[in-house]
Amino acid sequence: RHSPTKMMIDGHELASKLYHHVLTLTEEGAGGREYAKSRKFTKEQLEHFQIGFAPNRWDSLKIILDKRGFSLEMMAKAGLLGIRESDNGYYDRFRNRLMFPIWDNQGKVIAFGGRSIGSDKPKYLNSAETPIFHKSNTLYALHLARPYIRKENAAILFEGYVDVVAAWGAGITNGVATLGTSLTQEQAKVLRRNAENVTICYDSDRAGVDAAFRSATILEEAGCHVKIALMPEGLDPDDFIREFGAERFKTDVIGASLSLMAFKMRFLRKGRNLQDEGERLRYIEEVLREISSLKRAVERDHYLRQLADEFSLSLEALKQEQFQLYRAKK
Ligand code: GTP
Ligand code: MN
Ligand code: MN
Ligand code: MN
Ligand code: MN
Repeated sequence: RHSPTKMMIDGHELASKLYHHVLTLTEEGAGGREYAKSRKFTKEQLEHFQIGFAPNRWDSLKIILDKRGFSLEMMAKAGLLGIRESDNGYYDRFRNRLMFPIWDNQGKVIAFGGRSIGSDKPKYLNSAETPIFHKSNTLYALHLARPYIRKENAAILFEGYVDVVAAWGAGITNGVATLGTSLTQEQAKVLRRNAENVTICYDSDRAGVDAAFRSATILEEAGCHVKIALMPEGLDPDDFIREFGAERFKTDVIGASLSLMAFKMRFLRKGRNLQDEGERLRYIEEVLREISSLKRAVERDHYLRQLADEFSLSLEALKQEQFQLYRAKK
C-alpha cells in the first residue's frame, strides 16, 4: 500500500480532474461555466489553472473516491470530505463552488480554494490545514510562475488566487498569492530563493494597505527588494483588469509601483495640505523618522536628498533635524 501522504495527494489529483471535467464538459457544470463567464475567465485561464466546478450535490466526489478504493476516512482527514454528525456518513465538503486547485511546489494538488457562485457563505472556502497542506509555506501557483519569476528576477505577490488568474490573463506570468493568511517568513524565504525583487499588489482597501506594509517588512527582512503597486481606492487587481484592461494594469499599476519608502511618503501625505507651513513641517518630520529607520546608509542618503530637493531645503538642515529627532527619542 501507498503512504497516507501519497493517497491524500492522489485523492486531490482525482478530485481536481473531476471538478475540471465537470466545469468544462458536463451539463452539471453549466452554473459554474456561467459564473466563470461572468468573471471573464477565458478557456486558457480555465486550462492553465485547471479551474473546475464542484457540483451542487452531497456525494459527487464521495462516490468516485469510494469507487476508486480510497479510504473515505482518510479523504476526510485530507479535507475533501466532511463527516455527518447524525450518522457518521461522509459528504462532499465542496459543493456548488468554482474550484481552484492549490499545488505544492512540485505541482501536485494538495488543497482547494472554492469560490461560491451564488450567495452561499462563506464566499471563499479553502481547505483547512491537513497533513499535506500547510498554508504557511504554500504560495498559490508558485510552480507555474517559478520559471518566469526566475527569468525576470521578480515575483508579483497578490492577495487572492483570483487576482493571480486575472493577472495571468493580462500577461503577468510571475504572480503568486498567499492563501487567505498574511505572508509568513517561510513564504518570503521561498520567494527570495527564486528572485531578488518582489512587487506587492494587494487590494486597494484599508486591509490591503495594512497587509502590504506588514508583508513588505517581512520581505525586506528576507532580503528582497520590495515595491508596492497602487490601484484606485476600493479596487483589487481583478477588478482593475476587468475595468481598465491589461495594458493599463501593466503600465499604470505594476509599472508604476513604488518603493516602500515612496509608498510610505505617499501615505503620510494623504489628506494633508502641504501648502500649510505647520502641516508641511509635521510631514517632513514624519518622513525623517521613516528615513531614520532605514537600515542602509545609501538609502537614507537617497531619500534625504529627495526630501531636500522637494522642499528646497538644505541637506545639512535635514540632517540636523534628523539628529534632533534621534536625540529626542533616546
Ligand atoms: P471576489 O468577490 O471573488 O472578487 O473576492 P474578493 O476579491 O472580495 O476576495 P478578498 O479580497 O476578500 O479575498 C482575498 C483572499 O482572501 C481569497 O483568495 C481567500 O483566500 C481569502 N478569503 C476571502 N474571503 C474569505 C472567506 O470568506 N473565507 C476564507 N476562508 N477565506 C477568504
Ligand atoms: Mn481541460
Ligand atoms: Mn479584500
Ligand atoms: Mn480582493
Ligand atoms: Mn476580487
